[in-house]
Amino acid sequence: MKIRLFDTTLRDGEQTPGVSLSPPQKVIIAKRLDELGVDVIEAGFPVISAGEAQAVRLISDENLSCEICALARANSKDIDAVSNANLSYVHTFIATSDIHLKYKLKMTREEALIKAIDAVTYAKSLGLKVEFSAEDATRTDREFLNRVFSEVARAGADRIDIPDTVGYSTPQYMADITSDAIQSSGLPVSVHCHNDFGLAVANALAGIQAGAVCAHVTINGIGERAGNASLEELNMALQCLQHDTKYETNINSEMIYETSRFISSMVGITVQPNKAIVGDNAFGHESGIHTHGILNNPLTYEPISPELVGRKRWLKVGKHAGMHGTNAMLAEYGIHPTDEQSQLILSRVKDMGDRGKLVTEVELLSIANDVMDDDSIKDLVKLDGFSVSTGIGTMPYAFVRLNINGKEYSETDFGVGPVDAAFNAIQKITGSTSELLIKDYGLASISGGSQALCEVTVHVADTSGNTISSKTIGKDIVTTSVRAVISGANRLMLKKMTTQEE
Ligand code: KIV
Ligand code: ZN
Repeated sequence: MKIRLFDTTLRDGEQTPGVSLSPPQKVIIAKRLDELGVDVIEAGFPVISAGEAQAVRLISDENLSCEICALARANSKDIDAVSNANLSYVHTFIATSDIHLKYKLKMTREEALIKAIDAVTYAKSLGLKVEFSAEDATRTDREFLNRVFSEVARAGADRIDIPDTVGYSTPQYMADITSDAIQSSGLPVSVHCHNDFGLAVANALAGIQAGAVCAHVTINGIGERAGNASLEELNMALQCLQHDTKYETNINSEMIYETSRFISSMVGITVQPNKAIVGDNAFGHESGIHTHGILNNPLTYEPISPELVGRKRWLKVGKHAGMHGTNAMLAEYGIHPTDEQSQLILSRVKDMGDRGKLVTEVELLSIANDVMDDDSIKDLVKLDGFSVSTGIGTMPYAFVRLNINGKEYSETDFGVGPVDAAFNAIQKITGSTSELLIKDYGLASISGGSQALCEVTVHVADTSGNTISSKTIGKDIVTTSVRAVISGANRLMLKKMTTQEE
């Protein structure tokens, strides 16, 4: 059965505290959502500002393949704003729970019902397709909710939506009121679930299993308070989990990860590492037992393959990694220690882990280098020289000279500080020669005073999605940072060469 995904990243998602998007940004996002394969984009709430109305109109002008709709309260001014933005699909709503009626709308149930009917009738008179939401449906008297749904259906609504506005429902209750809504309205039903108790996706799934044909979702689950049901989680749960009915969506799942990263950078909200499907750790393994299983058959510890959502699996070295994991990671760099050497490498890794130390790939390779007394782990990138200049009233500036595989490259660049300037200069060289990108940067002081030792951790990535973390300790922040990047770049290039040779 085909399930519609109604994406409200640009409306409910934009209601995330601190998020505000300009019309051009909204257009760019809408195009990406369309490419991803959402069925509907809720482009905004046009009555609230001129910019919002403009964004909705610009998105409508793009003639995307998905449907575009916009939000309106149950009144003619809001509905006109949607129609004036060139849309033919309105999502109109009014609250129906007693708590909202008494403290927010100051209306009786009957007054709210009349407003709902009038809004639907008015929108239909403008020729709009109408999706009607009973806000706070899950805290609304069940009989009254059914009455509202049956009356708006009679007034001409095309679709009904059940908002779990404050994430108050359980999956069972969502299923029950979805069945009621289908019966009372006779219309296609959507579910709109918030995540206040972490149940948004479970509730949306329960609604669908009870017969809802559409779910309102956002990318990365962004939205008011704890957010909305996340598109990536619900989509994969529909496509991959066992259900009595087989569900399909129009989503191109391989684009999920890049879309998630893109939205995260546009709205400035980082995805938590342990978030399902799109979090950094979702396809990462450190435990030796897991790594062993994964190496024999990935399905042992991965419910779906990472490629299905546009990702790559990664193994992490650490005290839990065990012999199989450590050897598998070394093999990625073309390094194959003997059993005895493996034991020694592992015991040093465990020792570092027991001291609370994070073991980066670079450190693993230096341990291997040391234990194996092997200079096959060569540095392809050498730092032949660098200088920075910084101060007050001047723009921080850096010069970097690198020798990559015997060839000299030098670059200069500016930055917000000397580290940034040095990174920008390195990036100019590695970006064009080896397509390496410097991603995250972390700095910690590991002793006190102005002569403190600093610890720099960086992540270097290549265009095929391989990343490597590298940690360096030193006295000078700029030099230590540059060395961390160069070590990371070296290991990533080694990994790349090994993969190409295979
Ligand atoms: O959560 C909610 O109730 C809403 C409505 C506007 C549908 O977002
Ligand atoms: Zn909502």
